[in-house]
Amino acid sequence: MVEKGNVPVAGVVRELAALRPRILAALERVLASGRVVRGPSIERFEREWARFLGVRHVVLAHSGTSALAAALAAAGVGRGDDVLVPALTFPGTAEAVLAVGAVPVAVDVAPETLLLDVSAALRALGPRTRAVVPVHLYGQVHPDLPRLARALRRRGIAVIEDACQAHGAFAPGARPAQWSAAAAYSFYPTKNLGTVGEAGAIATDDDELVVRLRALRDHGSTGGAAHAAFGVNLWPGQLEAAILSVKLPRLRGWNEARRRMARRYDRALAGCSAVRPVANVTGEGHVYHQYVVRCTARDELRRLLSAAGIETAVYYPRTLLELPGLAGRLRRRGPCPNAAAAAREVLSLPVHPWLTAAERKRCVEAVGEAAGAIEVDRR
Ligand SMILES: Cc1ncc(COP(=O)(O)O)c(C=O)c1O
Repeated sequence: MVEKGNVPVAGVVRELAALRPRILAALERVLASGRVVRGPSIERFEREWARFLGVRHVVLAHSGTSALAAALAAAGVGRGDDVLVPALTFPGTAEAVLAVGAVPVAVDVAPETLLLDVSAALRALGPRTRAVVPVHLYGQVHPDLPRLARALRRRGIAVIEDACQAHGAFAPGARPAQWSAAAAYSFYPTKNLGTVGEAGAIATDDDELVVRLRALRDHGSTGGAAHAAFGVNLWPGQLEAAILSVKLPRLRGWNEARRRMARRYDRALAGCSAVRPVANVTGEGHVYHQYVVRCTARDELRRLLSAAGIETAVYYPRTLLELPGLAGRLRRRGPCPNAAAAAREVLSLPVHPWLTAAERKRCVEAVGEAAGAIEVDRR
């Protein structure tokens, strides 16, 4: 029997309902303090996030996109430079490159992980390449980060990690910002760690980069000297930061719940060739911002799941190269067939920690049945 109500693909509404009293109390404290911008809640969460990630510095910003742009600018990327980005990602990755006046160059992704194809990236390097932005898509840190970083270091090319979907994720031998100038995070409400409103962060171990980042965020102010450098306004609000401090102690548990659900889907799909999960090559380091399967009959899979009351989503239906808004602004060096095929096949299933036990069971059964039906159809 099908329970009433759809199983939501994102858990924001439930998360806010569950934490509402604590969130309201935190907001009340900020309001009572009168420090509604540029205050202690921001500093506190910067310290907490740095400790959680194991990095020397965190600079909170207004969004993941502005965090990425600030990291690129602070690393010296600007007009006349090329920056390599994976062809399959959220458009914000490329927009950040454009925001600093550089040109995003799309590179294909690896077919199993859908993460930047490092060999293709190394082949795509040109005389103007100034940075590479690997994206830890779906919550999986790029496993080849050390190889990429070593190859680029010799050429003086910066790595900026797009960790906007990878809160708490790691790969063996690669903690955040270990192999890069900086890692950028987004706290958009649907993320594994999200606020109400917009916020982002840059994590770095570089004591000089962080000075430039703080100036960039604050109209170029460097410790009292106003506008000593170039800057803009990249501040998040105090309220956004206070909410993040409420949620952060719960992040490890939430990520673990996501991994448990992912393992259940993996078991349900074992041996099925028509519906295949995107490979997890980092084990317990994967935080499953999305649990993504590939299916050439994606519309059919979606329809079957929808009929069973299971919501799904597509991240992303088009590659960067196929987005009208980026047409003419993006370059490619070499074809991107893996990204193009993935955009036609990927489907995200509910994996958030706010699924009830009954819903988890229902999702796993429905996915197993739908995959089985598609497998039979194919024979
Ligand atoms: C991979 C990736 N990069 C960049 C961003 C941009 O983050 P924001 O929406 O906070 O600007 C996002 C967030 O959606 C993302 O998923």
